[in-house]
Amino acid sequence: MHLLEGRHHIVVPCSPGVAPFLSREMRALKLPIIDEKSTSITSKGDFDDAIKLNLNLRCGQRVLWRLASFKASDPDQLYEKLMPLTWEDLIAADGYFSVTSIVDNPTIRDNRFANLRVKDAIVDRIRRISGRRPDSGPKRDKLVFYLFWQQDDVKIYLDTSGPTLAQRDYRLDPGKAPLRETLAAALIAASGYDGAKTFINPMCGSGTLAIEAAIIAQRRIPGLLRQSYSFQSLVGYKNMDLLALRAEARRSSRPDRKIRLIATDIDPAMINVAKENAARAEVDDVIEFITCDFAETPVPNGGGIIICNPEYGHRLGDEEELKITYKRFGDFLKQSAPGYEAFVFSGNRNLLKEIGLKMDRRWSFDNGGISCDLNAYPLYKGSREPGKDK
Ligand SMILES: C[S@@+](CC[C@H](N)C(=O)[O-])C[C@H]1O[C@@H](n2cnc3c(N)ncnc32)[C@H](O)[C@@H]1O
Repeated sequence: MHLLEGRHHIVVPCSPGVAPFLSREMRALKLPIIDEKSTSITSKGDFDDAIKLNLNLRCGQRVLWRLASFKASDPDQLYEKLMPLTWEDLIAADGYFSVTSIVDNPTIRDNRFANLRVKDAIVDRIRRISGRRPDSGPKRDKLVFYLFWQQDDVKIYLDTSGPTLAQRDYRLDPGKAPLRETLAAALIAASGYDGAKTFINPMCGSGTLAIEAAIIAQRRIPGLLRQSYSFQSLVGYKNMDLLALRAEARRSSRPDRKIRLIATDIDPAMINVAKENAARAEVDDVIEFITCDFAETPVPNGGGIIICNPEYGHRLGDEEELKITYKRFGDFLKQSAPGYEAFVFSGNRNLLKEIGLKMDRRWSFDNGGISCDLNAYPLYKGSREPGKDK
């Protein structure tokens, strides 16, 4: 059978803490969940499902299509078992691919040797069939194969995404300590925001949270503007198919939906960066960007979500100074935003304590190797229920 035909395992890796939100997204796309780990979700589907996941997933890092699973105890067996796979279904004789791996096998001291055996099997097979050989190397902008080899258990995948799905191609200038788009989307999913209420993002930096929120509220797929995916390098893939999928996604989005998003930052340069990013993301007309101290952020009546990612000392700012910022932010929430629910994302629990509000939920994530918390604070209007007056 052709390597892209039939139903295969589809694995979507994610960063720690994101899995519950990714799993929810995959279920919403009608994919069955067959395994859920802290850093990946596994489903099963056909190749159209793999493409659908690439275009639609907000929280996943990449989409891996399982090509084969078998036993091999050493590199020669690995080569022998890979050779019969019909690699010519995927790679043109003059194509390009790269191989990457996670290996824990006693016969392999350097992963590069395992990668080389995978490459040899692919090249030798295609040369035997066509008389020509595809090129291979470290560049991951065309086809990428992933080898997972644990003891004698081998799984080989085609990475259908290429660069991480966090790359939506609207953010050229990252600004200071930006959030990855996939993590921003997971934080927004945790907040429950769906576009119905006001969304406020003080200390917005390059605007990732506000932009992702606008895209979610407009029911737009995150892959609408991304330049390229690895699956486009597959032999015979017709780019018209991708254009058709995007045109269909555009038709079902709601760019005219009435939504209110406010994003503020004290640094005018960051507001400019955020505006440019929002313009590239085609949501600049629905986000009000304001240069101001967070305490001056307008908070419209009616309640909603306030979400922010203040600096937390690991990379920027100084902890003692930041304590004052966090305390002031807590005061701002208490005084200015009754009826809202606030979410603060930070990699420093000492600083989060300075907020001085009672948190009712907490999620933990990883942000660039730093363990971070998202704390939720309901802001009461007098009664104990957000949004309800006495
Ligand atoms: C960690 S960055 C936010 C990054 C953002 N989530 C992104 O994805 O780009 C924190 C931001 O808070 C802003 N900031 C710091 N103190 C502020 C204050 N008192 N009022 C408003 N913004 C402030 C900084 O200018 C910076 O852009």
